[in-house]
Amino acid sequence: AGGTFVPAVVIGTGYGAAVSALRLGEAGVSTLMLEMGQLWNQPGPDGNVFSGMLKPDKRSSWFKTRTEAPLGSFLWLDLANRDIDPYAGVLDRVNFDQMSVYVGRGVGGGSLVNGGMAVTPRRSYFEEVLPQVDAAEMYDRYFPRANSTLRVGNIDKKWFEETEWYKFARVSREQASKAGLSTTFVPNVYDWEYMKREAEGSVPKSALDAEVIYGNNHGKVSLDKSYLAAALGTGKVTIETLHQVKTIRQQKDGNYLLTVEQKDADGKLLATKEISCRHLFLGAGSLGSTELLLRARETGTLPNLSSEVGAGWGPNGNIMTARANHMWNPTGTKQSSIPALGIDDWDNPDAPVFAEIAPMPAGLETWVSLYLAITKNPQRGTFVYNAAKDRADLRWTREQNAPAVAAAKSLFDRINKANTTIYRYDLFGKQLKAFADDFCYHPLGGAVLGKATDNYGRVNGYKNLYVTDGALIPGSIGVNPFVTITALAERNIERVIKQDVTAK
Ligand code: FDA
Repeated sequence: AGGTFVPAVVIGTGYGAAVSALRLGEAGVSTLMLEMGQLWNQPGPDGNVFSGMLKPDKRSSWFKTRTEAPLGSFLWLDLANRDIDPYAGVLDRVNFDQMSVYVGRGVGGGSLVNGGMAVTPRRSYFEEVLPQVDAAEMYDRYFPRANSTLRVGNIDKKWFEETEWYKFARVSREQASKAGLSTTFVPNVYDWEYMKREAEGSVPKSALDAEVIYGNNHGKVSLDKSYLAAALGTGKVTIETLHQVKTIRQQKDGNYLLTVEQKDADGKLLATKEISCRHLFLGAGSLGSTELLLRARETGTLPNLSSEVGAGWGPNGNIMTARANHMWNPTGTKQSSIPALGIDDWDNPDAPVFAEIAPMPAGLETWVSLYLAITKNPQRGTFVYNAAKDRADLRWTREQNAPAVAAAKSLFDRINKANTTIYRYDLFGKQLKAFADDFCYHPLGGAVLGKATDNYGRVNGYKNLYVTDGALIPGSIGVNPFVTITALAERNIERVIKQDVTAK
């Protein structure tokens, strides 16, 4: 019994997973990564790997019959979405009762679909959120390691000031400054030099051709080009794609036995496999890792898991909103899809907000200023196991997002007042709606560090079982989260390899 044996299995290929696999590989540990999505390296019929935002096809979405874009409407018309065939596409929108969560599917996880904004959190807030983690060690060693391995870079400020592609950001900066608010440049894993060449017309366009949430065909240094390429380069790491882990149980010898479904890209079941391992690392993301652990606890395959599994979830205070500019203040028909500026009002004691100035690359003038606000919302959700559907449901009500909306509103009311502008009410669905409070990009928590796990991600109740990803972070980090997820994974895996894996 026990199927194929490998020393270490990593579930998923997002940030936490990729860090763990690279460091295991470097330590000489044979490691198998299991990813439910595809490897995105084969061009489709149009010659591109990804389908782009303006004409999305089945490659855009994870088993949907219609795309589900975050900005579902324009002038209340559903212009952005298309009917598609169900397929193992790159972006998933997991729709819970009162909250929808966007996640990436494929080798690289969220790095395939995200905006690449690579932000190190303010140290004081990091210390508030994760007080038991040695911040000095994080800021001296693991944040720098994460930033350099992710290949985070900064925009050329002179180019930013000149280029038509960032006019939308300069307009928003000006309006923020009229309200006494300051902005900050945001580092990114997009190759800024490549973007300059896109603007010159010397290379194929990606950021400058409205590509981001359904994948970038060029320019972005996603994990498959950084951590995962290095992991494969150790010769110790292999990746199986279209392999979804369903169940985890512990055997008498202490090894873990996984049931894994292999499908084709159209969703047809090809095989159900059993794989066993000594060390098991969960890097399936906040939703994925939490669901696997909840299922194991509730169906009795890992009965000793703590009651903390499923608790402490939050959307990082995510609220989207948009303002309407005056006719004489256009935001530009040309907009880079990669954000470069954020309004930083995090030190505001009443309503801390870090708002990314988001593009709306529609190819025509919209007079829209769009924002993704990250707020500090103390509300938390809980995942519960739904036995009938064999999945995790999220207990989170729309009401719980009221503090986040209030914080975003207080900031953007100030900007509107200073500029005599108003909100846009037509972008977030069919009703009049100025704040999108029903979806998020930054799911965090569910197996929180120091609660469901020890202080290094070792799952309480079991040996050699680890959580490595966004599930560890208790619902909020104040900035876009992937640099923190990466740095924390670097910290944890270093300790785990030394003490649990290679120690004799
Ligand atoms: P992540 O979600 O990256 O990876 C999990 C992987 O596990 C996925 O590939 C999934 O398919 C796989 N998986 C899940 N269950 C499985 C199972 N049972 N078996 C096998 N595989 C399984 N952040 C940021 O810092 N800057 C930004 O600009 C943005 N922008 C942004 C835009 C959009 C559209 C989205 C959706 C998200 C962002 N984010 C972001 C958020 C960021 O992408 C996110 O926080 C990280 O990807 C989370 O990393 P994890 O390692 O937790 O998991």
